[in-house]
Amino acid sequence: MSEFQPYFTNDGSVGLYSEKYDDIYHSASGALTEAYEKFIYPINWDVLLMHDNIKILDICYGIGYNSKSFLNFVYENQKKLLKKKKKLKNFSKNNFLKSYNIETIHTNNKYTQNSGNYINPIYTDNIFNNLSITAIDNDEILIGLSPFIKSGVKNIKNNSEIKNKHNISKYLTEKNTKKPKIKNFLNFLILSKITQNAPNIYQNPIISTILTSAKYSPYLNSQIKGLYTSGCVTGQFNLNNLNLHNIYYRYLSNCYKNDLKRFKIRNIDFNIKINDARNAIMSDSTLYNLIFLDAFTPQKCPCLWSYDFFKELYRVLNSDGMLLTYSSSAVVRSAMQAAGFYIGYIYSKRFNKSQGTIAAKNEALINYPLSEDDLGLLNTRAGIFYRDKNLNAQNEAIIKARNFEVQNSDKISSSKYLKMRSNNEV
Ligand SMILES: C[S@@+](CC[C@H](N)C(=O)[O-])C[C@H]1O[C@@H](n2cnc3c(N)ncnc32)[C@H](O)[C@@H]1O
Repeated sequence: MSEFQPYFTNDGSVGLYSEKYDDIYHSASGALTEAYEKFIYPINWDVLLMHDNIKILDICYGIGYNSKSFLNFVYENQKKLLKKKKKLKNFSKNNFLKSYNIETIHTNNKYTQNSGNYINPIYTDNIFNNLSITAIDNDEILIGLSPFIKSGVKNIKNNSEIKNKHNISKYLTEKNTKKPKIKNFLNFLILSKITQNAPNIYQNPIISTILTSAKYSPYLNSQIKGLYTSGCVTGQFNLNNLNLHNIYYRYLSNCYKNDLKRFKIRNIDFNIKINDARNAIMSDSTLYNLIFLDAFTPQKCPCLWSYDFFKELYRVLNSDGMLLTYSSSAVVRSAMQAAGFYIGYIYSKRFNKSQGTIAAKNEALINYPLSEDDLGLLNTRAGIFYRDKNLNAQNEAIIKARNFEVQNSDKISSSKYLKMRSNNEV
């Protein structure tokens, strides 16, 4: 795929490697597993289910694993979630507010005042009446390809050419047994939303080259790809394939409609913003229940981890919303904290380890607060955060300015701090 190369990660889902960044887009130990562990399981589902209308902001949507995993999780756990929701109806509004300390959250921030579009427990047969996903990425090729990516293979054939060339094998050591798989109708759903909302994406010749080239075929979902090659997506089918196309389309659309009918979400919106995430947020006044932040690492993409960007994310997060990210670095956490968030770590039961960070306006939503060591690190040089006052600086300039601040800081280094901690000196 143009400057990025697909390969199979350890759980059978497709990961991408970027030649330009010499970096991987997805965890090689399992792209889909990572999405579940870091963005879906840590969600406080009790709080989410108290809402009727849910808004999700997926920053750095890429090929969409986080949004797709959310939808897939809800679909696969519909009965359980509905049962949970029904139990919650007995939980009165006041009790709920008290138990999550909602009155006492950050009153110093003007945006929290009217931000609680909670909580009017609903007793319909839907898990959510409206679910809106806003997907932001500055790469339209990835967004366009997202419904076409194969969602999992059982037997992973190693892509040795890429592995050897880029040493990806070092990541591929963990053995995974459970292989998650995205329901096909969700790919179809996303494709239908993209063709409605951003049809021009499919005029991009790079997408066409990728979708029709044999080289990428093993990584693409053949059913959905069939829609493209038959001209359905671009509306360019000819008389030769028209009949085939109609049969095929009808077959797929029936599967899709049946699954969609069973999906206990009444209405799903999918908004696409092909833009620098900073620009997209600045003009957004929505309040989100969930924010997924999945940018490249802070060293590669500091503009999406700066204090100033987190202030914007604070502004657009609902008062009982949650921001989730895979990053656990001090430079990120200190920026979140300075922007007003309460922060904690994400704990993966499956791997029995902490990974990533959860941020909220409401302290009661933090299940795993940071340890003394982690909190202390925020006050070392490692915790000197990136700044991007006007939200338009280049990554290189942001890094340079931080380096200057670090060099001139009288804070101690993180290694010295940790050494002192282990000697009980602080
Ligand atoms: C680690 S990948 C995200 C993977 C993605 N969540 C997925 O499921 O495929 C980082 C993404 O950030 C996007 N990106 C990089 N800089 C950006 C920016 N300034 N604004 C918006 N997106 C950006 C890249 O195009 C890439 O898709």
